[in-house]
Amino acid sequence: MSTVHIIDHPLVQHKLTILRDKNTGTKDFRENLNEIAMLMGYEVTRDLPLSDKPIETPICPMIAKEVSGKKLAIVPILRAGLGLVDGLIKLLPVARVGHIGLYRDEESHQPVEYFCKLPKDITERLVILTDPMLATGGSACDALVMLKRKGVDNIRLMCLVAAPEGIAKVQQEHPDIDIYVAAVDEKLNENAYIVPGLGDCGDRIFGTK
Ligand code: PRP
Ligand code: URA
Repeated sequence: MSTVHIIDHPLVQHKLTILRDKNTGTKDFRENLNEIAMLMGYEVTRDLPLSDKPIETPICPMIAKEVSGKKLAIVPILRAGLGLVDGLIKLLPVARVGHIGLYRDEESHQPVEYFCKLPKDITERLVILTDPMLATGGSACDALVMLKRKGVDNIRLMCLVAAPEGIAKVQQEHPDIDIYVAAVDEKLNENAYIVPGLGDCGDRIFGTK
């Protein structure tokens, strides 16, 4: 069974409260989501492998450590997953970025695929799959299937807010995938929105409502 990492750092929780507040406007929503992505990225990348790098300090030569950023890819699920990309790129400036386009059908709540563009060498990379909202888990599970079909076998799922239903579905269908979240909320409502959640994340990032 995969691990669910709950990132309960006070700064993350503080910013999440700002995102949850319905009075937070688009500008502040984007800025805080960006900052949360950076803070969460610190935990998501905690065990990244390091390689040796010979350098010279002003005092002497040494073998120092570096993160091999070339071995990483960030893959947002469009649209809302884009909101976590900039913060991660600040930490991992040379990571490649792929895109998976999925939207939830309003009636059935089932994900519908409309786009997929991934780096050519994606199978050689650790993929951080980003989507702020893990509701029914349908979108995340479909995206994971798409990545696995391409041969990707090293994936972490980075979300912001999850419903217990979404976590259960991902863990059941993809027991090899670790999940990183800032909060696990109470439940889904009749429209499959997370309660209390933060509303429609894509609409709040892009101001489309
Ligand atoms: C939202 C969200 C997730 C999905 C989560 O996307 O960003 O991708 O719903 O729900 P699920 O776990 O039940 O699949 P949405 O379909 O609203 O598309 P958008 O990001 O383009 O607004
Ligand atoms: N998608 C969202 O943006 N919010 C939810 O609560 C559920 C799905």
